[in-house]
Amino acid sequence: MSIPQHVAIIMDGNGRWAAQRGLPRIKGHKEGVRIAEEILEAASKAGVQHLSLYAFSTENWKRPALEVMGLMAILRMYLRIFLPRLMANNIRFHHLGALEGLPDGVQRDIQALEAKTAGNTGLTFHLAVNYGSRLEIVLAARRCVRDGLSPDEITEESLAARLWTAGTPDVDFLIRTSGELRISNFLLWQVAYAEIHVTDCLWPDFHAERFREALDIYASRERRFGGL
Ligand code: IPE
Ligand code: IPE
Ligand code: MG
Repeated sequence: MSIPQHVAIIMDGNGRWAAQRGLPRIKGHKEGVRIAEEILEAASKAGVQHLSLYAFSTENWKRPALEVMGLMAILRMYLRIFLPRLMANNIRFHHLGALEGLPDGVQRDIQALEAKTAGNTGLTFHLAVNYGSRLEIVLAARRCVRDGLSPDEITEESLAARLWTAGTPDVDFLIRTSGELRISNFLLWQVAYAEIHVTDCLWPDFHAERFREALDIYASRERRFGGL
């Protein structure tokens, strides 16, 4: 079976999952974190090499302050309890997004987790927090200028090497839960030829079994990359 090297997931539907149960949205986010752990382990076992999870976008700051604070608190808790799991599974942690703008504690926890797992050689877990794809591309363009590249030296390769995903293969498989048919500013450059799978399943219901079903769907796709 063909296994995607790089799987990216737009983890959507936590709020709706909570609303369906008459719970506050934050409960949906807590459940969502548990599912993220489950999927991380399933991806690692399946032989996926890169898993990118969209946790908080540059646009999510528009949400009510209480929800944003709750999300940041859950994130910190998660970054801390995660270390033993990552070490046990030989998983390397990598942040995608702008560190600046995040609360100091979150920045510190992200950097600590990256440093502590830097030597791991299994799956790389990219967590997108304060991530926006347009911002990523703008910052990469600025770096090209700062690095003194001439117009001819600005190529797909030299630009990609300045994205937060530098050194990571393009996304092979993009999954979005909860049925929305949009990309919401996630990895716009990197999904150029990704296979897309949208499921109505809400993120807190997206258990490992659902993930494995999605991998079967990927394996049945014929990829052409513009050729015949
Ligand atoms: C996804 O769930 C998690 C984040 C964007 C942080 P949502 O919070 O977007 O849940 P819905 O889309 O409102 O159901
Ligand atoms: C995308 O979900 C962002 C994350 C999953 C972190 P949103 O819920 O923010 O996206 P829209 O607003 O439905 O496009
Ligand atoms: Mg949403």
